[in-house]
Amino acid sequence: MGLKIAIPKERAEYEKRVAVSVDTVKKLTGLGALVMIESGAGEGASVTDQMFKDAGATIAKGEADLYKSAHVVLKVQGPSDDELGKLDKGTLLIAMLAPYANAELISALAKKGIDAFSMELVPRITRAQSMDVLSSQSNLAGYKAVLDATEHYTRAFPMMMTAAGTIPPTKVFIMGAGVAGLQAIATAKRLGAVVTATDVRPAAKEQVESLGGSFVAVENEEFKEAETAGGYAKEMSKDYQKQQAALVAEHITKQDIVITTALIPGRPAPKLIDSKMVKSMKPGSVLVDLAVESGGNIEGSKPGEIVDVEGVSIVGHRNVPSRLATDASSLYAKNLLNLLNLIIDKDKAELAIDWDDEIVKGIALTKGGEIIHPNFAEKKTTTKKAPAKKSTAKKTATAKTATKKKADDDKKPAKKSKEG
Ligand code: NAI
Repeated sequence: MGLKIAIPKERAEYEKRVAVSVDTVKKLTGLGALVMIESGAGEGASVTDQMFKDAGATIAKGEADLYKSAHVVLKVQGPSDDELGKLDKGTLLIAMLAPYANAELISALAKKGIDAFSMELVPRITRAQSMDVLSSQSNLAGYKAVLDATEHYTRAFPMMMTAAGTIPPTKVFIMGAGVAGLQAIATAKRLGAVVTATDVRPAAKEQVESLGGSFVAVENEEFKEAETAGGYAKEMSKDYQKQQAALVAEHITKQDIVITTALIPGRPAPKLIDSKMVKSMKPGSVLVDLAVESGGNIEGSKPGEIVDVEGVSIVGHRNVPSRLATDASSLYAKNLLNLLNLIIDKDKAELAIDWDDEIVKGIALTKGGEIIHPNFAEKKTTTKKAPAKKSTAKKTATAKTATKKKADDDKKPAKKSKEG
């Protein structure tokens, strides 16, 4: 048997996505891999076991069957403690591990000898665009945020001129014009709203305008340099934040809907709207905080709640991409497939990881019992045991030994460890 790829049902609360789609199962089995899926894994994304089976997957007989001798485990979110206990040493785990918020999980993965790749860390280079899960998921979140706003809003978006009178268009303000924000702008425009947007990155201005939105920002010297080489926002100075807050306070009183999407990788989300600004809006106005799970952009927003502040609603749905689980899963699955294409030797249907590849270096958190990612290495536990020699040697030759290990395992069905 060649490469075995296992896909568990997600355990996390509010998580309906799954790490493979019918399309990617077809592609992976077409490469000669055994794709084993936990029964019901696709339910939340409207994919039945039968649909996966028809695409070539095998439905696991139970958890033991699923994880046994798996070379790769594909997940959406990081494993629970229970799942972690079931992963074999030497397994390659690929998921969105939220490493900045999960230092303990990274240590635990290293300790267990799991090689972990975190998809949020895919570098923003052209070659990696098709693997960029932040983009694929944020895009859907930006779209859904506008629909979530309409659900709590008691007026229509487009201008309507009727015999009974004219309805003015809704004014929508988008804060943070990255992937989610740009899609929110496009969605609100399609619904007929008048859209304005802000961001701290100067590159955002042209993008906002190209979608028909007006750009509102404090465009000083600091703003002109506020983008990192990776295309992300920097944390702005206190002085800039003060000026930005004054501009926003003035603008926001005239808005009907505000959607906030501002994030800074590895840091809490910037606070952009205080409760005074919320209260300055007309009753019936709606704010949607897409950053609610990263600390929130809006004072008073609560994960998983719709908060009412004097007739103004603050919407704080958790895990917004999961609210569009079918599309979010298929795009995420495609991102994973594109990564797997990079690390699988297609002729042999084996893992063939080039640990020096820029993309692999970007996402590899742990390898052979060590935390290897430079951004997280200092967080490793001091109690960590040195990996056994045999294990380290095996890791450096993961690709070549994959098939052999499987053959050994097959000869010893009672033994769970892949070390053979
Ligand atoms: P993100 O999700 O980290 O943040 C969302 C937005 O919030 C960003 O535009 C950021 O500048 C903005 N923001 C941060 N602090 C703010 C503040 N105080 N006030 C207002 N806005 C604030 O960013 P995302 O969506 O992941 O994209 C960032 C950039 O990367 C975009 O320009 C995007 O087009 C680019 N990108 C490049 C890719 C590539 O080259 N392969 C792939 C995907 C995105």
